[in-house]
Amino acid sequence: MIVAEAWKASYLYWVFPALIVATVFAILGLIGVIFAIRLFAKYTCGRFRKTTRMDGKTVIVTGCTGGIGKETARDLAKRGARVIMACRNLEVAEKVKDEIIDSTKNTQVIVKKLDLSSFASVREFAADINKTEPKLDVLIHNAGYADTFKKRKTVDDIEMTMETNHYGPFLLTHLLIDLLKKSAPSRIVVVASSLYRLASFNIDNPNPVDTIPGYLYYASKEANILFTRELARRLEGTGVTVNCLHPGLIETGIWSSVPPPLNWMLFPIIKFFFKTPKQGCQTTVMLAVDEQLEKVSGKYFSDCRESSLSSSVSNMSRAKKVWEVSERMVKLGDDDPRI
Ligand SMILES: *[C@@H]1O[C@H](CO)[C@@H](O)[C@H](O)[C@H]1NC(C)=O
Ligand SMILES: *[C@@H]1O[C@H](CO)[C@@H](O)[C@H](O)[C@H]1NC(C)=O
Repeated sequence: MIVAEAWKASYLYWVFPALIVATVFAILGLIGVIFAIRLFAKYTCGRFRKTTRMDGKTVIVTGCTGGIGKETARDLAKRGARVIMACRNLEVAEKVKDEIIDSTKNTQVIVKKLDLSSFASVREFAADINKTEPKLDVLIHNAGYADTFKKRKTVDDIEMTMETNHYGPFLLTHLLIDLLKKSAPSRIVVVASSLYRLASFNIDNPNPVDTIPGYLYYASKEANILFTRELARRLEGTGVTVNCLHPGLIETGIWSSVPPPLNWMLFPIIKFFFKTPKQGCQTTVMLAVDEQLEKVSGKYFSDCRESSLSSSVSNMSRAKKVWEVSERMVKLGDDDPRI
């Protein structure tokens, strides 16, 4: 009896509180370790350290007035490339161009108008490039449109996210493919996202005007990856390669489409955990310039390393179907190049 009471007393007054304190410390310790790992990952994350030069090479970067596109253009200009900034907002693009020329001392940076949400604009841009540029070594599909809730249609009567992120780049690739083949070995780089796993491109509804754009952003990224896989297959033996990538989660303007107050809550997390645009452009730059990758095609990269894809985007018969649907959506004509 006395022994039992003594045990009970020690259990209640000593062991139990000690367990609680130990648990709290364990949780705090775990959170600390997770933060440390995350910070370490952020600051050691894939950096492309080679100083490979790009003198004499011509590169197109779409959507580069800000974020990772701007840093990609700057990095390639620093390496000596002729950089064609393909942008929707010419006023902003000219300012960014001046800033890039100023910081890299490379005057071979030019701006051209390209609105990927308009097939007419894509055709105009491609015709101009085809006429004025004797060669094209790298085409970087960087531009991306994201909105969370607001449904929008383009001048072509197509859902905005899908046309800007997938159909526009699909058409542009077709219209520039002859120039890329002529310039081989040449490359196409597609900026996708690991968030492709959250959605899938609906082959039966290729113009999903009633779906919320937040979902369609992920679906368009899945389409980007399927496009890369099928394009690589079709380009075998041409000397033109295509690879896609996940840039990481980046603190760029694309997050401003998140409505308040969610964006204010997200802000500190974004600042703390997300990559800066300069860190975010590393994998794009690697795929555009690394000599070791000259013959690598149809692959997916993240943090400057090859990464695996989920089974949904490894299905080549699905990739082929998405390709055929896309050919119809962009109204590829008899005179247009086929790939
Ligand atoms: C590009 O120009 C070449 C001639 O230099 C022409 O044969 C080809 O059809 C043009 N392609 C496009 C897509 O305009
Ligand atoms: C691959 O895609 C095709 C076409 O969409 C589909 O019919 C088939 O079930 C898919 N296969 C697998 C293993 O998911």
